[in-house]
Amino acid sequence: MSQPHASPDASARPDAVSRDRDTVLVVDFGAQYAQLIARRVRELDVFSEIVSNRTSAAEMAERDPAAIILSGGPASVHVEGAPQLDPAIYDLGVPILGICYGAQLIAQQLGGVVGRGMAGEYGRTRLTRTAASTILPDDAPETHECWMSHFDGITELPDGFVATATSQGAPVAVLEHDERRIYGVQFHPEVVHSPYGMAALARFVHERAGIGSEWEMSSVIDEQVASIRERVGDARVICGLSGGVDSSVAAALVHRAIGAQLTCVYVDTGLMRKGESEQVVETFRRNLGIELIHADEAATFFEALAGLTDPEAKRKAIGERFIRVFEKHTGGLTEARFLVQGTLYPDLIESGGTDGTASVIKSHHNVGGLPDDMALELIEPLRDLFKDEVRALGTELGLPDEMVWRQPFPGPGLGVRIIGEVTPARVAVLQEADAIVRQELAAAGLERAIWQSYAALLADVRSVGVMGDERTYGNPVVIRAVTSDDAMTADWARIPYETLEVMSQRIINEVDGVNRVTYDITSKPPGTIEWE
Ligand code: XMP
Repeated sequence: MSQPHASPDASARPDAVSRDRDTVLVVDFGAQYAQLIARRVRELDVFSEIVSNRTSAAEMAERDPAAIILSGGPASVHVEGAPQLDPAIYDLGVPILGICYGAQLIAQQLGGVVGRGMAGEYGRTRLTRTAASTILPDDAPETHECWMSHFDGITELPDGFVATATSQGAPVAVLEHDERRIYGVQFHPEVVHSPYGMAALARFVHERAGIGSEWEMSSVIDEQVASIRERVGDARVICGLSGGVDSSVAAALVHRAIGAQLTCVYVDTGLMRKGESEQVVETFRRNLGIELIHADEAATFFEALAGLTDPEAKRKAIGERFIRVFEKHTGGLTEARFLVQGTLYPDLIESGGTDGTASVIKSHHNVGGLPDDMALELIEPLRDLFKDEVRALGTELGLPDEMVWRQPFPGPGLGVRIIGEVTPARVAVLQEADAIVRQELAAAGLERAIWQSYAALLADVRSVGVMGDERTYGNPVVIRAVTSDDAMTADWARIPYETLEVMSQRIINEVDGVNRVTYDITSKPPGTIEWE
C-alpha cells in the first residue's frame, strides 16, 4: 500500500470533534457488539465512542464520559485472560451499564458470582420482571421478549445490588444499584429482537445518566467547519474524489469550511458506470461550486489495460496509472499542505485504531492508493461517524440522493467486472447492461435493501442463441446482487423473478452483442462479491 505521510500528530486526532459535549463511552469487549451499541446511543442523539477494555480508570476519567456502557463479548468471564475492566472505573461515580458479558463482569468484579456452564440461552427469550426497575421501561409488560446470547449466568448479586428481572437461563437477568448508578442487563438491548431494548437504553442514558438529546448533524457540521478552518488557515487543500459516498461527503464538508482553498481531483478512469462521471462533475462543479479538476484520462487507462486478461495484472495497471494521473494533475498545486480523506469510524475500529493510536489510511478505497512521497497532512472530517451518519450529513450538505445512497463501488471500477481484456467497446456494452440492472432494481424499490448490484460481462465467453430468425453468437452478462452488512460475507439477493425477467429481456433487446443473461446465486464465501 502506498500512502501519503500522515501528519506526526495524527494520533492526537486533530479532526476529532470537541469534547465539551456529553459523551457515552462504550467499552469494547467484542467489536461488533460495541459498534452496534455505539450506533444505538447515537440514535438517541447522544454522542458515543468506543474505547478499548484496556483503558485505565485514569484515562477514562480524563475523557470525562457522562456514562459508560460495557459491551457484550464472545468470552466467558471464567476463561483465563478474559478481558477485564480496570476496577477503579466503578468508583469514578460515572453511571455504568453492563450488557451481557459486561453485566457478568460487573457481577464478578464487584463481588457477586457468575455461574459456569449453565443451560445458556440463545435467541428469543422471555424476561420476567421481579421487582421495580429504574432501567427497564415502565411500559414493558411483566413478562416480555428479549434477545439473549449467553452460556454463563449471574447467580449471586454483589453487595448493594438488587435483581429486577429473571429468565429461565439467567437467574439474575437484570441487576441494579441505583445509588452507585451501576446496572447490568443479561439481554441485548441493542438488537431489534429486544422490543423494549431501545427504551431501556434510553432510560439509562437520559434518566439515569441525565444526558439530553443534543447530538445532531447540524452541530457536527458547525464543529467540523470551525475546526477545519482553524487547522488549515490559509493553506491549500486537495481532495481525491472517487464518486463514492465518503469522499464526496468529506469534500462537501471541507468545502463548506474553506471554500476555494479546496481543490478536488476526480480521476476519470473511463471505467465508471454509465453517467457517473457526468454526475460527479455536475454535482461538484455546478451544484456545489467546488473547484474540480476533471482528469479525463480514459484513453491512458485503456492504453495500460491493452492486452491484459489476468485480474491482478489489470488491477496493478489501473493502480499504477491512477497514481501517475493523480500526480500529474496535482503537480501544479505546489502550495497544498493537506489531503482530505473520507475515513469513517468503522475503518478505524476495524483496523484496531479506536485507542487513537493508529492513523489508518483507507488504501482499499483509493484504487492503488496515493503517491508515496506526498508529504501532506491528512484531514479526516468523517472519522467519528458511522456510514448512516455520513449519509445523513451528505444530505444535510446538499448532496443528491444518488450520490449519498450510492452502493460501494470498487476503485478499479468496471475494470474488475469484465472478464477478459478491458476495451472501450466492452466497457460501453457493460455500462448499458449495468444501467438496466440499476434502473430495474430501482423501479422494483429494492435499491436500498441491496448492498451491491451490478452486471458483469463475460467478454471471453461466447455462446449460441437465436433472435428473430437469426442465429447469434454473443457474450453472456451475469447479474450479481447481494445483501451484506460489511462486504466480509454476503448472500445473493432474492430478487423477484419478475424483476430478473425484465432485466434479462431488456439487456438482450437493448444491448448489442449480449445474447444471454444469468443470475449469480453464489454467496460469499465461497464466492466473492466481484467477478474478476
Ligand atoms: P469482494 O469481491 O472481495 O469485494 O467480495 C468486497 C468488497 O470490496 C469491494 N472492492 C473494492 N473496493 N477497491 C475498492 O475500493 C478495490 O480494489 C476493490 N475490490 C473489491 C467490492 O466492490 C465489495 O464491496
